[in-house]
Amino acid sequence: MENKKWYKDRVLYQIWPRSFKDGNGDGMGDLIGVYEKLDYIKSLGCDGIWFSPLYPSPGVDCGYDISDYMDIAEEFGGMEAFKKVLDGAHERDMKVIMDLVVNHTSTEHEWFKKSYQRIEPYTDYYIWRPAKANGKLPNNWDSLFEGKAWAWNEERQEYYMHLFAIEQADLNMDNPLVREEVKKILTFWLDMGVDGFREDVITFISKKDGLPDDYIMPASKGINYFNHGPHLHEYLEEFKRDVFSQYDCMVLAEAPMVTPKKALEYIDESQNPVLDMMIQFATQEADCMFTDFYHTKFNLRKLKKAYSAWQNGLEGKGWNMLYIENHDHPRMVSRYGSEKFRVESAKMLAVSYLFLKGTPFIYQGQEIGMSNWYPSDPEMYEDVQTRWQYFNVATKKSPEKRLERLWHGSRDSARTPVQWDNTENAGFTTGTPWFYVNENYTEVNVASQENDENSILNFYRKAIKLRKELSAVRHGNYTEYGKNSSTLYTYAREDEKQKLLIVCSFSENLENWDVPVGFDMDKAELILCNYENVDATVMKPYEARVYCWEK
Ligand code: NOJ
Repeated sequence: MENKKWYKDRVLYQIWPRSFKDGNGDGMGDLIGVYEKLDYIKSLGCDGIWFSPLYPSPGVDCGYDISDYMDIAEEFGGMEAFKKVLDGAHERDMKVIMDLVVNHTSTEHEWFKKSYQRIEPYTDYYIWRPAKANGKLPNNWDSLFEGKAWAWNEERQEYYMHLFAIEQADLNMDNPLVREEVKKILTFWLDMGVDGFREDVITFISKKDGLPDDYIMPASKGINYFNHGPHLHEYLEEFKRDVFSQYDCMVLAEAPMVTPKKALEYIDESQNPVLDMMIQFATQEADCMFTDFYHTKFNLRKLKKAYSAWQNGLEGKGWNMLYIENHDHPRMVSRYGSEKFRVESAKMLAVSYLFLKGTPFIYQGQEIGMSNWYPSDPEMYEDVQTRWQYFNVATKKSPEKRLERLWHGSRDSARTPVQWDNTENAGFTTGTPWFYVNENYTEVNVASQENDENSILNFYRKAIKLRKELSAVRHGNYTEYGKNSSTLYTYAREDEKQKLLIVCSFSENLENWDVPVGFDMDKAELILCNYENVDATVMKPYEARVYCWEK
């Protein structure tokens, strides 16, 4: 069946289930809560949901360590609750995307237990290697979460590879039986009616033959040999041929370090692509080096360069996935925006990416401008990666400085419960929340913003509505102006019907704006702005404007 590309006209909402909404009072977000909020999500103008993992899991990596791929965790309401949400979403013309995490499974998965006992056919489902002479590790690769990429299994008397947590064992995708399992999982969910997948670190599934030592990149050894490995394209092609091509579904691949050029090897629409879109990381790196933990001063030019590289690089060939937040990065108002100008900067950040070409995703809480969380004690962090960074990575820095690093870098900053109202626990649960609620919930919450015409929430609604009405956003080409400005991001979108000019200030000062040559401002209509009064050539702190010329 031909892929109808429904995703090109939609805006998707990401739910990280634990912290979205608790419907049964046990303190953990669940699908009962999601069902209650379907109309809310739809009211934003979102017509699709990406669910971070809902499957049974010991929860070492908050669900990204799966112990059963064909079920829904009881804590989220089980399969019955899921089917109700799926039907409820479809009734509202909303698509549902699942997370597919098959680079690794939980070490609690049946396959792993059988694998270490060498019970066939599971013996080679994972990447097992004996110790080298003197008990040395099979190679020098690093785990991205916890130390080296190898853990010893007593029963089997071998090491298994874990590119993430110790309890996340890497699958051996070179084994055709493992690929058959993946296809069974995909078919199971697609037959149930889900509309696609977001594939977790899928570019890591093919490791270089022989698993050689990596000498090139001291920061994270191995990445040169497991990212975009030798059989990646072949395996993705197999999944497409045997499964995805039979359904009207969307496949979105998480792809650390991918460039637009590399992405086109997978998503070029003229080349029978194996994927629909890729999640790039370049636009997340304007205030850090490699990962959020290595915080640097925010650099707008770096951000603009990344946006333009992706807009121009895929033009006419592939389709962009657009996002500013997800469950893996701290909140954007606290990063590229400003907590002091929280309302203004949250709106500006919305404009900065919602008018680009591609399919935007909104992460829960982003639409009300939720900001970072600043715990006083490192023990309050839950995330496995964050805890390793604090408690295990050697550094000479003081405990205060190390804690501060977590404030800027931890994923937990974006994992506090969604703030629904100003009642106890922000209306997230009637029980005891599984995680800390950000103290600013009395000020920052959905209920108060529903009643305020000028709220961030209502601004998102307006921006999304406009984006859907304007053909130039869907089809138009992209041109960046004022590239050298370190405070303003100006870009135009144009098709045969309209010309749009978007300008966003990333500064807390007044900034002079040079109107790009060729734009007749007397004829322009200002269709969106986060301030009431506009001074044509001076941008107020975090001001954002969208101008339109109808042709
Ligand atoms: C990427 C996911 O987004 C992240 O949350 C997870 O920890 C890792 N992959 C490992 O599955």
